[in-house]
Amino acid sequence: MEIKVVVGNIAELKGDAILVSFFEGREKLDGDIATLDKALGGAISELISQGEIKGKLNEVSVIHSLGRLPASRVVVTGLGKREDLSRDKLCGAVAETCRLLRQKGTEKIVTVAQSAGKAGISLEAAAQAVTEGALIVLYTFRRHITKAAEHGEISELAIVGTSQAEREALELGSSRGWVLAEATNLARDLVNEPANYMTPTIMAEEARKLAERHGLECQVLERAEMQELGMGALLGVAQGSREPPKLIMLRYQGGDSAEADLALVGKGITFDSGGISIKSAEKMAEMKGDMAGGAAVIAAMGALAQFRPRLNVVAAIPATENLPGGGALKPGDILTALDGKTIEIVSTDAEGRLVLADALGYVCKLGAKRIVDVATLTGACRIALGDVCSGVFGNRQELVDRLLAAAAEAGELSWQMPLYEQYKEQNKSDVADIKNSGGRYGGAITAAQFLAEFVSDTPWVHLDIAGTYLSDKERACLVKGATGVPVRTLVNFVLSLAE
Ligand code: BES
Ligand code: MN
Ligand code: ZN
Repeated sequence: MEIKVVVGNIAELKGDAILVSFFEGREKLDGDIATLDKALGGAISELISQGEIKGKLNEVSVIHSLGRLPASRVVVTGLGKREDLSRDKLCGAVAETCRLLRQKGTEKIVTVAQSAGKAGISLEAAAQAVTEGALIVLYTFRRHITKAAEHGEISELAIVGTSQAEREALELGSSRGWVLAEATNLARDLVNEPANYMTPTIMAEEARKLAERHGLECQVLERAEMQELGMGALLGVAQGSREPPKLIMLRYQGGDSAEADLALVGKGITFDSGGISIKSAEKMAEMKGDMAGGAAVIAAMGALAQFRPRLNVVAAIPATENLPGGGALKPGDILTALDGKTIEIVSTDAEGRLVLADALGYVCKLGAKRIVDVATLTGACRIALGDVCSGVFGNRQELVDRLLAAAAEAGELSWQMPLYEQYKEQNKSDVADIKNSGGRYGGAITAAQFLAEFVSDTPWVHLDIAGTYLSDKERACLVKGATGVPVRTLVNFVLSLAE
């Protein structure tokens, strides 16, 4: 879809639909909507007085212009109560509108910067929200479907400004929204791809292509290098599969020094069968998405390369399958991680923390000053928080707070979980330094507590996205399948660090 900013009179623009919005419980028509109402002979105000247009959040009314305007329809989206509007609700309302218009075969959309200057939303923020909402909701994953879709595609979204003075802010907001949405959609593509099309090798290839596109440095560590470095935990998980593991490294250099101000680490299990501790059949197919953390990190790095903040970021994605091949890791085995710690394997299905242990150890060794890791780590996190928000853990409150703020700004809900030391008890092993499962109770916390052991004293935040990386419904910006969480959070977080 092409997105552009135009300056002109809304009543003179061509297109299949002109989008405007309306608050609940309201107010006289003014500005663009009043101009359109007049051109339509008062149709909008008539619908309002009849109570058909109420302005409730996500209410969409379509009015055909029947030749009274160059554009064929005017679409009024409800934004709810003015005082309750947030950037995220705006994004969702635009998304619901675009979803409906696509259904109706609309191709070219013209929209005002919805709600700009109202409810504390700037022109720039409105343009960003409109762009993000449209691009994120119109995402489809049809690569493996040979039949044509039932709906067409919206090919153009024009955001209208009333004066040249508005153009710059609209363009800035729109291009920011575009980068964030494209990155989110890239992560979704990687996650939605089934495991036979998204092996560790292919994932590394995708990272390399992205690096080339955006001028990032990319390095892929192979099995032999992992052996040399002593990454026994990552290698242990990989030994049950015929697919070679990859440790994908991306580097963004925006600062003056050589140091990594931040490391982003993402779990890259391209398929998690559970290994010898095999999962039950029903939910196993979903585990093609067990690399969602890695996908988000890769996609966020691409966005950062476009925003160019003044700091250095290194990304590490330990990628492997977790399969029960003849050489597979067995319950009871003991592995030695990169940092020398020994790990008793209680369950081969607790593989995420194993590959992360070595990736975290590695970025510490590289001297990363802070670490954020992202992983579809535990079913327990989904049980605790559902599909509404991601779990956030950390060893420095200041860094956790920064991440929570970045997530809130992105509209990707998240919630802090505790890391009380009492939980460490559950990870104690009788035969090794630590064991890889602390049992069912508090499973998201004991998993995070396990990771904490491998970051030494580096300030660190861990995001468990097991509940949020996938959606089984269409609502607001969500479509079925991968959500692209937490790409926008990560980007906002890094940008805030650079400020
Ligand atoms: N990848 C899973 C966690 C998961 C579950 C992600 C559901 C997304 C949706 C992870 O590797 C896993 O299997 N965790 C186990 C840990 C247990 C064996 C300690 C779990 O959550 O059951
Ligand atoms: Mn598992
Ligand atoms: Zn897993």
